[in-house]
Amino acid sequence: MQQRLQKIIAAAGYCSRRRAEELIAAGRVRVNGQVAKLGDQADAGNCQILIDGKPIRAAEEPTYLLLNKPLGVVTTLNDPDGRRVVSDLVRDYTVRLFPVGRLDINTSGLLLMTNDGDLANRLAHPSHQVDKRYLVKIRGQLTNESKIRLAEGVLLDDGMTAPARVEKVRVSDGHTWFELCIHEGRNRQVRRMCEALGYQVSKLVRIGYAFLALGDLAPGQARTLTKTEVNRLKKLDK
Ligand code: URA
Repeated sequence: MQQRLQKIIAAAGYCSRRRAEELIAAGRVRVNGQVAKLGDQADAGNCQILIDGKPIRAAEEPTYLLLNKPLGVVTTLNDPDGRRVVSDLVRDYTVRLFPVGRLDINTSGLLLMTNDGDLANRLAHPSHQVDKRYLVKIRGQLTNESKIRLAEGVLLDDGMTAPARVEKVRVSDGHTWFELCIHEGRNRQVRRMCEALGYQVSKLVRIGYAFLALGDLAPGQARTLTKTEVNRLKKLDK
C-alpha cells in the first residue's frame, strides 16, 4: 500500500509527521537509495527507508494505553538518576510507547501512552485544548474568592491561566478536596495555580483526560483503549 513517507515514518514511532516532513525536506531520508522529497509516497512493506543512513524500524502495531501512573514514577523513557520511569510499567507491551504529555513525579493518575507519535504530538499541542481533570487536595479551606480566581485565571510567572472549572468542593479534616478541570498543560500548572493563591497541594491525581476517566484502575496498571475510544481521540484533534 502506497502511503505518504512522513506518515510511514511517524507510524514507525520514529518522530511526529511534522518532524518527518522536516527530515525529508532536509534531504536526510532515502527510499531504496534515492533521496526522498516532500510529497513522495512509498510502500512500507516493500522498500528500504533510511534516515541519516539508518533504517527505520518496521511499522509497529499502533498501541494506545491508559496507565494509572503511581507516585514516585518519572514521566520519561529513561532517567539518568536511575529512578523508576513510566516505560518500566508497560514493559509487557513489546512496542516502544511514549507518554502523551507528562505528570510530575508527585502526581499520580491518568497518563496516555502510545507509539502513535503523530496523535501524541497533536494531543499534547496547546492548540488542541484537551480537558484534563484533576482531583486536588489542599491544606485548609478553599475560599470562595480563591475558587473564583482558579476558575477565572491566576497570574503565574508564565502568564495568566485560561478559564478553568472548579467542581465538587468538599472539606474534611482541615483539608479541602476539589476537582479542577484545565485545558492548558503548562509545567506544574495545578500546583503553581494553588501555590499562587497561598495553598499547599498535598495530593494531586489526574482523574480525566478528554472523555476518558481513570476509573478504578489500580496504580501501576494499564489498560488498552477500545477502538471507539481511539477513534474519539483521533476526532478530538480535527
Ligand atoms: N499540574 C501539576 O501541577 N502537576 C501535574 O503533574 C499535572 C498538572
